[in-house]
Amino acid sequence: MPDILGIRGYDYVEFYVGSAKMVAYWYAKSLGMNITGFSGPETGVRDRISYYLTKNNLKIVITSAVQPSTYDIFGFVNRHGDGVKRWAIEVDDVEKTFNYATQNGAVMVQRPHKLEDKHGYVMEAAIRLYDDTELVYVNRDNFNHIFRPGYCEPRQELNLEFEETGIIGIDHIVGNVRENEMNLWAGYFNKTMNFDTFIDFKAGDIGTKYSALLSKVVRSKDSVIKNPINEPYVAEKKSQIEEYIEQYYGSGVQHIAIQTEDIVKTIAALRKNGVEFLTVPDTYYDMLRERADLNIDENIDDLQKHKILCDKESTGYLLQLFTKPIGDRPTFFFEFIQRKGAEGFGKGNFQALFESIELDQKLRGNLDKTPEELLPPC
Ligand code: FE2
Repeated sequence: MPDILGIRGYDYVEFYVGSAKMVAYWYAKSLGMNITGFSGPETGVRDRISYYLTKNNLKIVITSAVQPSTYDIFGFVNRHGDGVKRWAIEVDDVEKTFNYATQNGAVMVQRPHKLEDKHGYVMEAAIRLYDDTELVYVNRDNFNHIFRPGYCEPRQELNLEFEETGIIGIDHIVGNVRENEMNLWAGYFNKTMNFDTFIDFKAGDIGTKYSALLSKVVRSKDSVIKNPINEPYVAEKKSQIEEYIEQYYGSGVQHIAIQTEDIVKTIAALRKNGVEFLTVPDTYYDMLRERADLNIDENIDDLQKHKILCDKESTGYLLQLFTKPIGDRPTFFFEFIQRKGAEGFGKGNFQALFESIELDQKLRGNLDKTPEELLPPC
């Protein structure tokens, strides 16, 4: 179904971090992204430093504060640690999309405004998401330079050696919210962005006997934007979503899934570049080999070698793998995904995935609900 709001797809994601230079280096070296632009005191921006990284359709901005008074960044990082401050959707008409959103209950953050320099102008507006995140509408049809006004060529040339990762763009972005907030935020997307609820994982659908969650996936009418929203569900031990909410000090973006057209190559390259992934037991691949209905192009030995997960649906299958949290706190992580006809999110892998996450949660002392159950430190 065509989208009446003129949504074109994902645009950029901006992270607020402690040190933009160091984090940008990680994205360049580990994910094989190009540092395409820079904004900071040298470009006339006094209070913050931003690096703009790109790879095919993937656009990531890494920003940190350079003055104590830059409270929006210091406040965010102090509370949440490094994390996603805003993600952007490219639209035909920023004003029209923003007006639709706010007339249908969206909380305004920034009204439509023009960012302008000699290279043209970019239109942006933003609404609030979750506790401290923003959804930005952007249009840069009339801008002919790097990212947006205030950005220049990077200051120094990095001669990094890394394996080519072949990452393409964003497949979906996932939010974690508190118990009883999932329906509120799913409704918010549906009302303000004219989205629909696409999948509804109910009690018992996702979880082990120890930890569980509920999840709803909302998406734009033509499916270019897919946004799962998770909330914790009662179980014997602490859900990974509860751990996120505790460690992030609130609701926010949990993970971004990045598309690839050759996941075996991508994961092999990412591992060589130093990216850490969740562990997958060899028994998972024994089960995969026993599935008579599994008719896939890839060799299961290759999937096992790189510990890639596979899930079959009625329309096709998907291959995916999840990194460990990329920062100091067990909060934000990346997923890499290759879709071969499947439109879901790997429901058949949730069991293996959860067991792997629980193992790490236990090591962090965040799985058990009582201190007596905690593991000794070494
Ligand atoms: Fe995902």
